[in-house]
Amino acid sequence: MAMALFKASTIPTLIFLLLSCSLIKISETQTPPTPAAGLSYTFYQNTCPRLESIIRQNLQTVFASDIGQAAGLLRLHFHDCFVQGCDGSVLLDGSASGPSEKDAPPNLTLRAQAFVIIENLRRLVHNACGSIVSCSDITAIAARDAVVLSGGPNYSIPLGRRDGLTFATRNVTLANLPPPFANTTVILNSLSQKGFTPTDVVALSGGHTIGISHCTSFTNRLYPSRDPTMDQTFFNNLRITCPTANSTNTTFMDIRSPNVFDNRYYVDLMNRQGLFTSDQDLYTDSRTRSIVTSFAINQTLFYQNFVSAMIKMSQLSVLTGTQGEIRTNCSRRNSNDLFVLPNMENDQEGKLASF
Ligand code: HEM
Ligand SMILES: *[C@@H]1O[C@H](CO)[C@@H](O)[C@H](O)[C@H]1NC(C)=O
Ligand SMILES: *[C@@H]1O[C@H](CO)[C@@H](O)[C@H](O)[C@H]1NC(C)=O
Ligand SMILES: *[C@@H]1O[C@H](CO)[C@@H](O)[C@H](O)[C@H]1NC(C)=O
Ligand SMILES: *[C@@H]1O[C@H](CO)[C@@H](O)[C@H](O)[C@H]1NC(C)=O
Ligand SMILES: *[C@@H]1O[C@H](CO)[C@@H](O)[C@H](O)[C@H]1NC(C)=O
Ligand SMILES: *[C@@H]1O[C@H](CO)[C@@H](O)[C@H](O)[C@H]1NC(C)=O
Ligand SMILES: *[C@@H]1O[C@H](CO)[C@@H](O)[C@H](O)[C@H]1NC(C)=O
Ligand SMILES: *[C@@H]1O[C@H](CO)[C@@H](O)[C@H](O)[C@H]1NC(C)=O
Repeated sequence: MAMALFKASTIPTLIFLLLSCSLIKISETQTPPTPAAGLSYTFYQNTCPRLESIIRQNLQTVFASDIGQAAGLLRLHFHDCFVQGCDGSVLLDGSASGPSEKDAPPNLTLRAQAFVIIENLRRLVHNACGSIVSCSDITAIAARDAVVLSGGPNYSIPLGRRDGLTFATRNVTLANLPPPFANTTVILNSLSQKGFTPTDVVALSGGHTIGISHCTSFTNRLYPSRDPTMDQTFFNNLRITCPTANSTNTTFMDIRSPNVFDNRYYVDLMNRQGLFTSDQDLYTDSRTRSIVTSFAINQTLFYQNFVSAMIKMSQLSVLTGTQGEIRTNCSRRNSNDLFVLPNMENDQEGKLASF
């Protein structure tokens, strides 16, 4: 019997071999892109050679007890980079997306634990190498490892980012993160301003192959009636999960394989089972439909384009050289004396208004 050849214990090995094959293919066919000025693939090679293994090992442990944290870290990096560049600003107390601003809509429920994980990684890395690695670099590596440890592609990231001294205002944050209610026209326009092509946009949206969403991010498609582009059975089930438009419940974003970084998100879209308007419309819109299909039928193609778009995203408006600083605590800048700002210390409103 064929089944007898595959003992349960050999299945993980087979999966690993299959994964390795696709990884080798990718590294053979893709030469890493030239890094942005001031960044390099070997930035910490001599000064912190264990950097990437420290992060990878720690996250392996974190994800073993809760794989959902991988999605939280991937999204954190996205929010960092889209708002004011990959400068760790999202991590600062007072950031509209950050841990302490409770009522700004675009905190969009970033996971509180993601901030804790990044600060913990910073402590481990700084204990090993000194305070020479930025919180923004750590966030970029953590997002990459979230992808790899969820079964996605491996890739090298240009390093050498510095941490910013300021965070974005609520309005700037809102202006840079398109809402899930947006259609493809709005999403393509918004992301083209950051240099992303339609193929990049479809590939980056594949980040939604892992993680969860709150009902309020998609109940616009359930109430008062079904968005006609949504599959009827999918709709029926979502109405059970979200009995009212303001329900606080959550649901997986990729119903086929919620915790695996694969191309099933695109299969969902082809079956009209995408969660957000911004997801499903990529299949409705003629400009992006064929890209969705190509990723749904070829995971290697998706991985290649995702890696390329992620490396692009991870270098948006980076600070390098002597710009910014290396934070010794990811949630606050090293010194509040750098600028003369009134009422900084205990005044949250003052902080927000000052930047
Ligand atoms: C194209 C525009 C995008 C929109 C409109 C968007 C919107 C959203 C929304 C509304 C949520 C759910 C928030 C909630 O209700 O809890 C979410 C979750 C998520 N997004 Fe996006 N997103 C976009 C792009 C991206 C990109 C580029 C990535 C990464 C490559 C990404 C990765 C994620 C992940 C991993 C989650 C799950 C987070 C978790 O489980 O904690 N998204 N996104
Ligand atoms: C985001 O805001 C909600 C309430 O609007 C709050 O419950 C949640 O804790 C905030 N997230 C973070 C990471 O602070
Ligand atoms: C994955 O990336 C890391 C860091 O660049 C590297 O050390 C490792 O060899 C890579 N693994 C594979 C399978 O390509
Ligand atoms: C933020 O945006 C809102 C709506 O566009 C506007 O009414 C408000 O004045 C803006 N606030 C600041 C501080 O720019
Ligand atoms: C997309 O949304 C924008 C803004 O809501 C709207 O003006 C436009 O007509 C929509 N485009 C399509 C093709 O639905
Ligand atoms: C949340 O969703 C689950 C799964 O669909 C459902 O069984 C449960 O009733 C929902 N909870 C609430 C409070 O709506
Ligand atoms: C949702 O809105 C309804 C009224 O539309 C209200 O009765 C209910 O308390 C709200 N629930 C939540 C969780 O805010
Ligand atoms: C899938 O995409 C990869 C990468 O572009 C390509 O090399 C391969 O030929 C494609 N496979 C099929 C079956 O089209
Ligand atoms: C980091 O800064 C925050 C305040 O922004 C503070 O609550 C926390 O205790 C600090 N962590 C360490 C290790 O000093």
